[in-house]
Amino acid sequence: MHHPSSTEPELLSLLDLASQTALHAYAPYSGFRVGAALRLTSGEIVTGTNVENASYGLTICAERSAVSRAVSDFGPEIRIAAVAIANLNGASSPPCGACLQVLFEFILPDAPVVFSVKDGKRVVAFHELLPLAFEMKAK
Ligand code: THU
Repeated sequence: MHHPSSTEPELLSLLDLASQTALHAYAPYSGFRVGAALRLTSGEIVTGTNVENASYGLTICAERSAVSRAVSDFGPEIRIAAVAIANLNGASSPPCGACLQVLFEFILPDAPVVFSVKDGKRVVAFHELLPLAFEMKAK
């Protein structure tokens, strides 16, 4: 089995792009600025950032922002081959549970997910983060 490694240059540059995107975060309430970058199987790269709202629950995370953008730009058949998530707060930021469920719709189970941790980065295969996703076949 292929074990994704954080030293792969493609993943490092994806993480770098995620951090650059975090500079665009709209996070006046939490101050927690997050950026996500997706690499699609087509080779396209799509980014997203968190967009908060005064009605806190309406906040959209960076990862879901990126997924919406990917579908909007490239259509419903997209497949996600890798994901990077970075924050500018020196914190660990794996994708939240809601984002994992949304990513699940489009991601390859073995796709590497690289994210910032306190003093560096970590890479985990998607299926390890969400081994039992809710699934439904259309009627
Ligand atoms: N946030 C993300 O963008 N991605 C995550 O996976 C977790 C949390 C954002 C939402 C909110 O704007 C801020 O981080 C603090 O929760």
